[in-house]
Amino acid sequence: MIKKLIPYIKGYWIPTILAPLLTMGEVVMEVYIPYLMSRIIDEGITLGDRRLVYQLGIQMIVCAMISLVLGIASQWSTARARTGFSKNLRAALFRKVQMFSFANVDHFSTGSLITRLTTDITSIENAFSTLIHQVFRNPVMILFATVMAFRINKDLCKVFLVAIPVLGIAVFAVSSKAHPFFMAMMDRFDTLNSIIEENLTAIRVVKAFVRRDKENEKFVAAASGIKQAQLKAEHIVILTRPVLSAVIYGTTLAICWFGGKQMIAGTMMTGEFLTFIQYIRQILFNLNMLSMVFIMIVMSGASVDRVIEVLDEIPDISDEGTDPNLTLDDGSVRFNHVNFTYKKDSDNYILSDINLDIKSGETIGIIGGTGSAKSTLVQLIPRLYDVNTGSVEVGGHDVREYPLETLRDSCAMVLQKNLLFSGTIRDNLKWGKEDATDEEIIEACKAADAHNFIMSFPHGYDTELGQGGVNVSGGQKQRLCIARALLKNPKILILDDSTSAVDTATDHAIREALKEHIADTTTFIIAQRIASVHDADRVIVLDNGTINGFDTPENLLKTNKIYQEVYESQQKGARENG
Ligand SMILES: Nc1ncnc2c1ncn2[C@@H]1O[C@H](COP(=O)(O)OP(=O)(O)O)[C@@H](O)[C@H]1O
Ligand SMILES: [Mg+2]
Repeated sequence: MIKKLIPYIKGYWIPTILAPLLTMGEVVMEVYIPYLMSRIIDEGITLGDRRLVYQLGIQMIVCAMISLVLGIASQWSTARARTGFSKNLRAALFRKVQMFSFANVDHFSTGSLITRLTTDITSIENAFSTLIHQVFRNPVMILFATVMAFRINKDLCKVFLVAIPVLGIAVFAVSSKAHPFFMAMMDRFDTLNSIIEENLTAIRVVKAFVRRDKENEKFVAAASGIKQAQLKAEHIVILTRPVLSAVIYGTTLAICWFGGKQMIAGTMMTGEFLTFIQYIRQILFNLNMLSMVFIMIVMSGASVDRVIEVLDEIPDISDEGTDPNLTLDDGSVRFNHVNFTYKKDSDNYILSDINLDIKSGETIGIIGGTGSAKSTLVQLIPRLYDVNTGSVEVGGHDVREYPLETLRDSCAMVLQKNLLFSGTIRDNLKWGKEDATDEEIIEACKAADAHNFIMSFPHGYDTELGQGGVNVSGGQKQRLCIARALLKNPKILILDDSTSAVDTATDHAIREALKEHIADTTTFIIAQRIASVHDADRVIVLDNGTINGFDTPENLLKTNKIYQEVYESQQKGARENG
């Protein structure tokens, strides 16, 4: 698992290797200083050798300075390595998510992807920095301090034989018990982020339905879930503290007892005794730090798994198997016995046995109740999802033969849920065509009946849109999205309920303008209003994932029951309202 993360150190290998080396140097100095101190006491002070005291004192100062410089340098390297590593990892993860098909995103859920990109990476970053900084520091410290302690007094070192196993068992027991709770904590972060994501993107709906209290409750419940898992994990981790204190004080006491006896017997000197205690404390303290490091790495293990899962996910729609030279020449569309379901292994088809033959340049209306799979049907054309069986052809070739860029450049889709991004209106429109001239932009906006309202803003095309395009109305947003799609000059244009928020007159004006500006483009219009499809060349009537009728509006009005019913009810509604 960890191996898979190694490539992301790329570009930061030097600080990654320097950090532990510098730390080890620092440790050697830290261990050497108490040794010098013991000599000052035992050889310098006790024997009254003033020159030796000065000499050793200067050595001590030099050691301390070196240790300080190495310490700073190692911190600096660690900081460079950790930030670089996490930047690489985050960028790779984001790039991967960008390659995901809708089905891949559905698989993880947006909330979970957000947690993985933020909290999980931060946790891995912390573990990485601990790894290159502490993991070497603690064992080296323990090793050196043990060697030094042994040199001073072998007999007293026997105390370790009791202390170390006690500490080891405690640490192991604690970290293995805490791990599942840390896993649970990350899962709960997913839930929390899903709620945040849903609420922030749909805050208007939340307010409109006065769901604030309900949503608050939901959020508090999720946050409490995290708190509980975190508390449980940390309660267990905290248990190491009393064990550690008991071991440290117990050991110190034992050393005082046995060391005191030796001092009275004259086999141990004061300086040796003080230094020995210093080493013992260094050893035990570092053992405990090591246990913390261990717990931290175990904790981040959950995050590593979750990040690798995303990195390993195979985008189920990619350019693999496509013909890079294939160009899309016309906007004809064919569906051959298409069956489709969102769950790959289910036989419960959302679309069953769809057959369509649409000529380039036709305008096709699609009507049907909510959930009748209208959106699903058109999403198969730009390959937002792949069919289960059968095939979808565009311009005479299976959509799976085109490079994705070729296909999607030729199919412009205005989704049911319109999205604009922060930036000016002009920036947003240029998503359709990066090098669009002002004339092209204005023409597209005229075709989408957006030019007039844009010009009514004081800054015109340079008006700033908030995140998600918050400062234009729903109908205006829809028209901007249509203009953006038109700028792509597509062979196929799909409008998925894209004029639901504009009034009937504007809706009509848009359709008239489209006819004039993009007569050669095959256009799909999904609509609730029968009036929106009544001037289409042909209309598909969808019912529960099957085609109930596919004919000209005039013929459907004579022969198709569903079409007649919708027509009647809307005519009646119009009469009553009028
Ligand atoms: N991303 C998805 N994952 C799973 N099921 C979905 C997804 N999108 C839509 N569906 C289901 O597919 C069916 C058709 O949905 P849709 O095509 O959006 O209908 P329409 O656009 O006609 O209202 C519905 O039952 C819906 O619940
Ligand atoms: Mg829909």
